[in-house]
Amino acid sequence: YLHKLVLGIETSCDDTAAAVVDENGRVLGEAIHSQTEVHLKTGGIVPPVAQQLHRENIQRIVQETLSASRISPSELSAVATTIKPGLALSLGVGLSFSLQLVEQFKKPFIPIHHMEAHALTIRLTNKVEFPFLVLLISGGHCLLSLVRGVSDFLVLGKSLDIAPGDMLDKVARRLSLAKYPECSMMSGGKAIEHLAKQGNRLCFDIKPPMQRAKNCDFSFSGLQHVVDKIIKQKEKEEGIEQGQVLSSAADLAAAVQHITAIHLAKRTHRAILFCKQRDLLPQTNAVLVVSGGVASNMYIRGALEIVANATQCTFLCPPPRLCTDNGVMIAWNGIERLRAGLGILHDIEGIRYEPK
Ligand code: KG4
Ligand code: ZN
Repeated sequence: YLHKLVLGIETSCDDTAAAVVDENGRVLGEAIHSQTEVHLKTGGIVPPVAQQLHRENIQRIVQETLSASRISPSELSAVATTIKPGLALSLGVGLSFSLQLVEQFKKPFIPIHHMEAHALTIRLTNKVEFPFLVLLISGGHCLLSLVRGVSDFLVLGKSLDIAPGDMLDKVARRLSLAKYPECSMMSGGKAIEHLAKQGNRLCFDIKPPMQRAKNCDFSFSGLQHVVDKIIKQKEKEEGIEQGQVLSSAADLAAAVQHITAIHLAKRTHRAILFCKQRDLLPQTNAVLVVSGGVASNMYIRGALEIVANATQCTFLCPPPRLCTDNGVMIAWNGIERLRAGLGILHDIEGIRYEPK
């Protein structure tokens, strides 16, 4: 092969994923095993369960990826693997597997920061130059950052508590949205988006969080508690028990979705203005990238697009399958690092997985 080829491996949370990507951003092969179904049953991720499922699937997923790519491990330029952040037990499975692989085939190892990979994904699908602004919003992430180079991030804001997807999942569970037949297989956030279409957000007056904070940070746990209180109150009024479906559930879903969108949009607006004032972003045609599971919400996306348009920014989202955790983004981050001559470990002595 003339081109550089990188195998990417991702096990930071509840997806066992791998992919082979070349220098031009071509995906030669990929495979993914999602644990969502198991975790939906337990009402959240139980780390030792996630670890066990990664162990059961990683060999097969990497094998499938290499077969689909029609290459043998000896043809790889390097192996890139997520080493942080994430669940320690889950990360450990991918890391141990990768270290065995690079030792066996004498390949360089590229340690990947999961958030760097999310942020750079857009450069695989679109021609985007540095610097650009990225908002990463999912069940585990809430990060607003200026991306100045492959490994040069200026973090402008993050959640001081939980991520927006986590909040939406908790509200959905508290509202028992899985009891609606059409929502039974949906993530909490998706169920809220679905139900919100039938609701009226104006039925509830909820204040956006952190109105006076002069920074770009986020907060979602206060919002979760406010909604919790409203639900308790409504259950009393409607004379129903916890676990039954409220008649006002759709209105509340619409209100929560709206406040989430407003909060994300306001903080992002601040970040754009901040960057422009300091010439960290160009005055026109700056790029705003939004990614992560929550970015698949069309209402939230719409609010962020309005902010982008109002500030003469170009609004970009990777396709949904690249917004959520995947192996392609890890492999691509490996390619980016190879091209930039960054962070390649030929000697893996220094890196060993140590469970805390
Ligand atoms: O990126 P992702 O698949 O996994 C990580 O958390 O890393 O994101 C999953 C999160 C969940 O919290 C889910 O409720 C949320 O994204 N989500 C949504 C929608 N689809 C998924 N939130 C709002 N609206 C959606 N349509
Ligand atoms: Zn992620």
